[in-house]
Amino acid sequence: MQFIPYGKQQLDQSDIDAVVETLHSDYLTTGPKVKEFEEAIAAYVGSAYCVAVANGTAALHLASLVLLSKDEKVLTTPNSFLATSNAILYAGAKPVFVDIAEDGNIDLDLCKEELKKDPSIKAIYAVAFSGRMIDQEKLKYLRETYNIIILEDCAHAIGAKDGEVKAASCVNSDISILSFHPVKHMTTGEGGAITTNSREVYEKLITLRGHGMVKTPEMKPWEYEMQMLGFNYRITDIQCALGLSQLKKLDRFIERRIEIARKYDQAFENSIVKPLYSYDEKSSYHLYVVQVDFTLLNISKEDLFNTLREKSIGIQLHYIPINKQPYYKSLGYGNEFTPVMDRYYKECFSLPMYPVLSDEEQKYVINTLFEVLK
Ligand SMILES: Cc1ncc(COP(=O)(O)O)c(C=O)c1O
Repeated sequence: MQFIPYGKQQLDQSDIDAVVETLHSDYLTTGPKVKEFEEAIAAYVGSAYCVAVANGTAALHLASLVLLSKDEKVLTTPNSFLATSNAILYAGAKPVFVDIAEDGNIDLDLCKEELKKDPSIKAIYAVAFSGRMIDQEKLKYLRETYNIIILEDCAHAIGAKDGEVKAASCVNSDISILSFHPVKHMTTGEGGAITTNSREVYEKLITLRGHGMVKTPEMKPWEYEMQMLGFNYRITDIQCALGLSQLKKLDRFIERRIEIARKYDQAFENSIVKPLYSYDEKSSYHLYVVQVDFTLLNISKEDLFNTLREKSIGIQLHYIPINKQPYYKSLGYGNEFTPVMDRYYKECFSLPMYPVLSDEEQKYVINTLFEVLK
């Protein structure tokens, strides 16, 4: 059996053709494909504006420079990739880690408690973990009641919906971000995007993406003005050509992910392997996470990982609690009361989930997992 990773891209000839066509064009970067891609992403997620950038981390960085000021407190989740809370630090602000709920997303009820206790909290950075939508009713309530800034990290969640609200549409948030890393739903190699419904935020993001530089029609032909300290976080036309081609297939990719999720759900019914949540239309399944109580078994998590790797199955752990990382500990984090996250970290792991995972491969994963856990 060929190695089965937890995630990978699906590319076909039309993706390659799209990239080659752009390589033959006049623009490799700052050309028409970037704008076309941004408009297509905004139309897909239902936001007014989109700024495409070099990667999801750059998207979080720029978003944080627009949303946050130094020393402001931001409620966020320990269950994410490092980039989510790192971006809060980039802006000189202070992450406050809140425990997760049973579905792996930040517990918005606990966020409410924190907001009641501390009116100085400025924002919530919530992650639609594994592709499952952040509860939009609760988000709306918190935003309206406590007048806080909301960022939705939708790096896992393009294509997900909660009722009528689509991931990254920013109906109940100020900014959302996306990532187009190859393990995500669609890829540009590296790449990311920021979506918003605010013209003012959009314009600031565009300026920050390009060195803080502004050029207006009134200026002399050679003139440009640096108005803020920005970066080169541009994405290329080559990447955007790939993104446009991938976007055409995104709904199909997600349908296939859902099909795989339902098969896993069925296979694990009434077994010791518990899906983090069962299919209920609210997830676009970047990850399929399961929970196993290792205290009931004769195998440790480490042995399970190693044995499955020997059998060509690359399960993965998403995520090690960010607040327990050495760097965060050096800043004084790590002792937050997060019992749900602690249990999650002991019990959870992600199974292979990507559109080109074949039925045979999935059966092999399920059977081997049961065999090893027996
Ligand atoms: C939840 C989340 N946010 C942000 C990022 C950063 O995205 P990128 O890898 O494109 O920089 C990732 C990447 O894995 C992620 O999983």
